[in-house]
Amino acid sequence: MYVQETEALVASAQAFIRALFAGNSGGHDAAHSLRVYRTAMQIAAQEPACDLKVAALAALLHDADDPKLFSTENHQNTRTFLSRHQVPPETADRVCRAIDSVSFSRNGLTSPDTLEGRIVQDADRLDALGAVGIARTFAYGGEHGRPLEASVQHFYDKLLLLRDGLNTEAARALAADRHAFLEAFLRQWDRETGQERP
Ligand code: NI
Repeated sequence: MYVQETEALVASAQAFIRALFAGNSGGHDAAHSLRVYRTAMQIAAQEPACDLKVAALAALLHDADDPKLFSTENHQNTRTFLSRHQVPPETADRVCRAIDSVSFSRNGLTSPDTLEGRIVQDADRLDALGAVGIARTFAYGGEHGRPLEASVQHFYDKLLLLRDGLNTEAARALAADRHAFLEAFLRQWDRETGQERP
């Protein structure tokens, strides 16, 4: 029963996210939230203490009230979805608490105080690494009119630091080849542009 309920809720949240992000492209679109959900479930599979329902909903809804995209307050989009689907208030609070702890700008590299928050934060950060991370960085830079070199600098300022701040063993394992792929990309960039870096 519990699994069926969660599955139906997850399917509804996926549809909600697709509708909410319709028209967005680049770094923060529905596909990002769906990847974060998928990765969070991969990590959660190795964390038996994780509440899967809270982690799944927090992963899918983690950008639903992102101030860069929406002018909602107090997780209004998230809370409206959850109450419409009869999610108990205690569960909704835990989902919102996990979402609050995910943001890089708000929390830097500090670790969330709940396991579900740590898992979703790891999944969100993994989406900034690897081939997906490279594609998102240039898409975001383009959206904001930044030259390519500014996006390259973002790898050094932020993305290469993410691996060492991951919370879970499973995420560290997933990060290894994604981080190496970023480094390989940057080496190739420097070769093609004739840059010397220390
Ligand atoms: Ni995100």
